[in-house]
Amino acid sequence: MAYLASRVDLSCPALGRPLSKPELIAAIAGQVGVLSTLADTIDAEVFNAAPALKVVANYAVGFNNIDLVAARERGIVVTNTPGVLTEATADLTWALILGICRRVGEGDRLVREGRWTGWAPTQLLGADVAGATLGIVGLGRIGRAVARRAVGFGMGVLYTARRVVPEADPAWRMVPLATVLAESDIVSLHVPLTADTRHLIGARELSSMKRTAYLINTARGPVIDEAALGAALRARTIAGAGLDVYEHEPAVHPDLLACENALLLPHLGSATTTTRERMGQMAADNLLAVVEGRAPPNPVMS
Ligand code: GLV
Ligand code: GLV
Repeated sequence: MAYLASRVDLSCPALGRPLSKPELIAAIAGQVGVLSTLADTIDAEVFNAAPALKVVANYAVGFNNIDLVAARERGIVVTNTPGVLTEATADLTWALILGICRRVGEGDRLVREGRWTGWAPTQLLGADVAGATLGIVGLGRIGRAVARRAVGFGMGVLYTARRVVPEADPAWRMVPLATVLAESDIVSLHVPLTADTRHLIGARELSSMKRTAYLINTARGPVIDEAALGAALRARTIAGAGLDVYEHEPAVHPDLLACENALLLPHLGSATTTTRERMGQMAADNLLAVVEGRAPPNPVMS
């Protein structure tokens, strides 16, 4: 971002953790633009403290952390980083799929904790991924990238989408959510967090999944009712869950932490070096465009 620094005054709180609300407000007051992360809640209270603000350039594809209505009322432009993190997030989704189905986390703990007593025919038996049915909830860019990888595993793909997806492989089947839940061996969530998708997967939906099925979430935590998922995992009404996102990050529901049949990652979907560089470049380009009075490349439509 050297070119950016040469053209605008930059200030960057380097804490290695998300800012608290008062820290965020103090950091933004007087600024014309902010490059925010998904851990920054940018709402009316923050906007009111930053009357000069013209742009919020989110360093994420998701933008549920920003109050778009409050931004529009104040004429503040909001941008995101679509596309650049699609493949990295799809890769991590597969890390969770393979990891939970083949009990990778449990196996690693067994070895590391010195509890491994040697090969045994029934040790840590998991589920087959090859040939299983993958259910994609939300066939957007990331959902499609996850589904494309399933071809190599010889899997059938079911998906939900709000409208016909021209890029969908004709072999994939568009079905209602109820069918995805009832028929998939692995259900992977790829919807944005909105009022419509909050707690999309609750107790009722979990109970309609196969007892042998796995639930994967690399989208946003609140899409799942985490307490209901914890109960389902404890009761083993589903086989397991692979999660990268949580309802109240960085807190994780104690039932999930207690469950061996949950594979838990700390929101790493886009966390590769090149992806994070591309996201940073894209967010900086968006920020600078608005500050300089140009149209940003990636505005979020509200
Ligand atoms: C990550 O969660 C993102 O939305 O970019
Ligand atoms: C995000 O890039 C999506 O549309 O899935």
